[in-house]
Amino acid sequence: MTDSIRELTILQPDDWHIHLRDGKALGTTVPHAADSFNRVICMPNLVPPVKTVDDARAYRERIMTHLQNSDISAERIAAFDPRMTLYLTDNTTPQDIEMAAKSGIVQAVKLYPAGATTNSADGVTDISACVDVFEALEKYDLPLLLHGEVTQDHVDIFDREKRFLDEVLAQIIIKFPTLKIVVEHITTSDAADFVLAQGNHIAATITPQHLMFNRNHLLVGGIKPHFYCLPILKRESHQKVLLDVATSGNPKFFLGTDSAPHATDKKEATCGCAGCYSASIALPLYATAFDSVGKIDKLEGFASRFGAQFYGLPVNQSTITLVNTPMQVPNAYPYFDGTSLTPLLAGETLPWSIKD
Ligand code: DOR
Ligand code: ZN
Repeated sequence: MTDSIRELTILQPDDWHIHLRDGKALGTTVPHAADSFNRVICMPNLVPPVKTVDDARAYRERIMTHLQNSDISAERIAAFDPRMTLYLTDNTTPQDIEMAAKSGIVQAVKLYPAGATTNSADGVTDISACVDVFEALEKYDLPLLLHGEVTQDHVDIFDREKRFLDEVLAQIIIKFPTLKIVVEHITTSDAADFVLAQGNHIAATITPQHLMFNRNHLLVGGIKPHFYCLPILKRESHQKVLLDVATSGNPKFFLGTDSAPHATDKKEATCGCAGCYSASIALPLYATAFDSVGKIDKLEGFASRFGAQFYGLPVNQSTITLVNTPMQVPNAYPYFDGTSLTPLLAGETLPWSIKD
């Protein structure tokens, strides 16, 4: 690195939590993801959800078809490797888990408490009834990815993550002491502390929005729907702790953008959808967050090493170079059927960009 132009070359990153959606949406989301990431763990909350190995295989093929039809380089096409997840329902069986583990294409299973977030209506209504499924996950060493929020109406939205840790996750960990778990998109210091207190089989992903923003960004001066995601942004003290742990070099914390596309008109609405779209600008966002605390040197571990290590996969061999040349985030991308997709920080300037 020189003083004036600073460049950072890191191993190619992976995104361990992304929503690519389905159908025509893939025409926008897949090239954006493949531009920066090699492996991406694709969330299964489609309509209908990805519930079986056959669903997962068919979904992966649809993703790859959109990749072939995109205008990204042959090199990026060859490197892109979407990894599939299954969506747990009340009807998932231990046999489904065994088949998933033996399939070679399912990387993990995702548990959405029913009603917790976008397309979670088919999620699990009673986690205590998942004992057989958790046993099978533990037996076959298949990771459980958690949307860690309770859903009872009376629980304050800002407390839902902590309540899940205390009332649900703590019990799961006692009953299944070797089950590999990723607490996805953590948003609180409580979650960071919780994960730190566990063994190395329990890890967490962190999104760019939870590192860069807090609930003031969402609410002060007017409601900013493009900062609305779930779990919701919390107070600044939590944001600071997340930035601390993400930049600490602790391998329990790694990159998962939770990039979650919703057409602009579905976000800017009286009942706006939850999700921040970040796939296309995720690396400049993370670089900006890490650099803001003088820890850009910790980005490679977080973005390119620790997730692979957790999943028992080799790190990527190619590299990507970030440079502190500013970039302007587009106001919107064309989405499908004449709609548009507004990214996080649309129209703003980021201090870091990806070198051509
Ligand atoms: O904000 C979110 N959007 N959080 C989630 O958990 C799901 C996601 C989506 O699928 O849109
Ligand atoms: Zn998600």
